[in-house]
Amino acid sequence: MPKDVSGLRVQLLGQPRAWLDGVEVALGQARQVAVFAILAGRGVGRSGSWVTVAELLDGVWGGAPPASARGSLHTYVSGLRRALRSTGAPVDPTEVLASQQGRYRLVVDRDAVDVARFEQAVAQARTVARGRPEMALSLVDEALADWSGDALLGVPGPFAERERARLEELRLSALELRAELMLTLGGHRELIPELTELTERHPLRESLYAALMQALHRDGRTGEALEVYYTAHRVLRAELGVEPSDTLHALHRKLLTGSGAHPVARHTGWLCVTPPARCKAAGHGVRLRGRDDELAHFDELITDLLAGRGGVLFVEGEPGAGKSALLGAALAAAGRGGFQLAWAVADPAHRNQPLRTITACFGPDAGVLDVPADVDDDVLETAADHLVDFVREACSRGPLAVVVDDMHWSDEASVVVWQRLASSTRQLPLLLVAAASSGHGRSDLATVKRCLRARGADVVELSRLCDDDVVGLVEDMLDARAGATLRSVLRRAVGNPLFATAMAEDLLRRGVLHISDGVADVDAEEPGLSRRMQAIVDRTLQFVVPETLRLLSTAALLGQEFAVSHLLAVADAAPLEVAEHVAAAIAAGILEPAEDAVTFRHPLQREALYQRWSEAARTVAHRRAAEALSGSGCPIEVVAHQLAAVTAPADAW
Ligand SMILES: Nc1ncnc2c1ncn2[C@@H]1O[C@H](COP(=O)(O)OP(=O)(O)OP(=O)(O)O)[C@@H](O)[C@H]1O
Ligand SMILES: [Mg+2]
Repeated sequence: MPKDVSGLRVQLLGQPRAWLDGVEVALGQARQVAVFAILAGRGVGRSGSWVTVAELLDGVWGGAPPASARGSLHTYVSGLRRALRSTGAPVDPTEVLASQQGRYRLVVDRDAVDVARFEQAVAQARTVARGRPEMALSLVDEALADWSGDALLGVPGPFAERERARLEELRLSALELRAELMLTLGGHRELIPELTELTERHPLRESLYAALMQALHRDGRTGEALEVYYTAHRVLRAELGVEPSDTLHALHRKLLTGSGAHPVARHTGWLCVTPPARCKAAGHGVRLRGRDDELAHFDELITDLLAGRGGVLFVEGEPGAGKSALLGAALAAAGRGGFQLAWAVADPAHRNQPLRTITACFGPDAGVLDVPADVDDDVLETAADHLVDFVREACSRGPLAVVVDDMHWSDEASVVVWQRLASSTRQLPLLLVAAASSGHGRSDLATVKRCLRARGADVVELSRLCDDDVVGLVEDMLDARAGATLRSVLRRAVGNPLFATAMAEDLLRRGVLHISDGVADVDAEEPGLSRRMQAIVDRTLQFVVPETLRLLSTAALLGQEFAVSHLLAVADAAPLEVAEHVAAAIAAGILEPAEDAVTFRHPLQREALYQRWSEAARTVAHRRAAEALSGSGCPIEVVAHQLAAVTAPADAW
């Protein structure tokens, strides 16, 4: 068995292609490709199954292969091995394409074959579809993106034909799942063109008609939705001689009787700028754990709003604490009811574009277009006045909720307008809500909060969830109970819902989380972070300046909890500088003061900082730390801890 054959990558969802160590393998003529495709389909994983000569003959030539077929098969196998060798990769082709007693096997990693990846991602999407529709949608989208044309394009033989039909069926069912998820997440408008085309290309698939009917209806195009039904009826009658299924029929009746009316009852001129369908801010379908008090608070504010009384709420929390999910759960659905909604999610591109965030809230109706970064103050002032007037006018038509998520990325002029609006909420039926990550270090937002508090308005800090709620949200996500090891793994999230969901998703994607008899569990806790998790955790450190991050990486060598005096001994910086960085990290919520020491608030953040060291650099750093600590008279166990880390095996992930 070769030591590492993960260098082989195979594409079957399109024209078959393969790469060995990044170099394309010339797969050769059509029948040779057919042999390769059969072996690739069956050979997934180290324990991939052997394929007999008879199976290959049947797969390439069918029931009655010509007498010459066996010889040709032999030639194709040699041709494929030659092509593997021609890539120049340092592997033995007879180990990659192995033979044994008249059987053949292609050894290839599961993740390296697009078909296997596709099947796994769609299965994972189905697992989380109910509990986490947005995660399911991203899994399905990634899976579908692997297709670059018809599967096994141009490959002859019965195997290819069967496989093409099977994969096309899988692709269509993935598209159906995608449509369902998009409908759940409110993306009906986006879906209409795609479903229209799909129903034309696959006129006998009833579920596609059903999805299209729902999408049109939700977009207020019930007449066209009914037309789709009549088309389906006609086509099914003409092609198959059957009536539409009960499901389609029931949907049709619902539309006719109006009982399926979508609750978007809006007056003309009402504002309705909802968060983008894919924006996790929507919080659709997610059952919020541990936020009953906050939701009740929102309910009170909404009741007040509907009664014509305004209000302000500023939500803060560490990255991933669940701010967007809370806004989504509390407000997104409510916006369909008795009040107008204006919603924006600020992003880093807004920072230097005056009024960008607040105009994103109101959409083009507000009449303020792109304001250049170097705009004169009086022009900016006029535009800001115009926006405030626009809001007043909107409020004269009915109650309005204005939501700004990720306010820490907002441009400063928008924050000023937001504050002006906040001071009008006593006179207007205007509910103003903002969410920002703590640790952003913006002084204007600190001032906003101070003013709000002084006026008796609410600033809500989202706390950590308790362990049971963390387990509960993962159980909702997986639609299964969590086993003991999974529960223990989830403690590393320390009450942060982003970390908990990301860990569960990561375990699922890596195929180490198994669900059986309604229980989801992993075999063992593994130390370290996968690359994907590392990227997610890194994003939560984005407000920390590089110099502080560097010092934190050094601190990470010392463990989860460390004495500042030990950090002073090992850090390559002056004591005052170290103290300043520690204070900055405490202010950003990365470190927390503990008795005689400082601790990382999140073990996952410490791990991510620790993994920033390459293995070689880490070894040197631990040795140097041991020397520095022993030189400064630290207790022997602290020095020993560093020396032990020098010889510790590399992390398993
Ligand atoms: N209370 C909760 N119960 C269940 N799931 C939650 C809860 N809070 C958040 N989540 C889920 O955790 C993930 C992270 O939440 P969310 O994106 O709302 O956090 P955030 O504070 O807005 O993060 P960021 O700082 O990146 O903006 C999402 O998948 C969300 O659906
Ligand atoms: Mg958010």
